[in-house]
Amino acid sequence: MNADELKRQAAEAAIELLPDGGIIGVGTGSTVNHFIDAFAKVKGRFDGAVSSSEASTERMQTLGIQVLDLNATGGLEVYVDGADEANRQLHLIKGGGGALTREKIVAAASKQFICIADEGKLVDVLGRFPLPVEVIPMARSYVGRELVALGGSPVWRENFVTDNDNLILDVHGLEIMEPMKLETAINQIAGVVTVGIFAHRPADVLILGTAEGPRVMKP
Ligand code: 5RP
Repeated sequence: MNADELKRQAAEAAIELLPDGGIIGVGTGSTVNHFIDAFAKVKGRFDGAVSSSEASTERMQTLGIQVLDLNATGGLEVYVDGADEANRQLHLIKGGGGALTREKIVAAASKQFICIADEGKLVDVLGRFPLPVEVIPMARSYVGRELVALGGSPVWRENFVTDNDNLILDVHGLEIMEPMKLETAINQIAGVVTVGIFAHRPADVLILGTAEGPRVMKP
């Protein structure tokens, strides 16, 4: 099975874990696109979705899923999203698609975070995937220097602007032994909007697509 088939498998397994109704938080990325396609088939059971990106909003609306404003819905029962890396504590690196800020907001506002991924995303130590950091444009160089001081090698994701009109620095060369500590440290840098470490609010459930079928992990 290739990675895309494993992503689809994980996404379809997540449908089985959804509540009977209500409003579902929906993440961003190729794995979530499979989830949106599967969710569209059962959308009648639900009152709609809160989206974490313009791309997911467009895909959901095209499939007839009602997209609601988080300010109007209040807290959500469940958020479903992918990840670039996950460790066994279900700390994640996210933001490969650049949607990390809205993803972090919807995850924070949800009681349960179901993460869906192919098995290649499971790692012992986070950091092989370059860590995305969303920054205010005028702070790009300053934040870059601060990230170097923390031991990383930031690379500006050129020709890319986030849904919030900000920039992304992808930080290479980190071995993230203490995800919560590094998440806090990077959040403290002036000009950082969001760091793509999801450790203070990790996933509650990780569904991995594997050659043997979906594997459900909890921390
Ligand atoms: C987007 C994300 C995605 O969840 C992450 O990049 C995984 O993407 P994919 O499902 O395409 O592998 O954080 O900002």
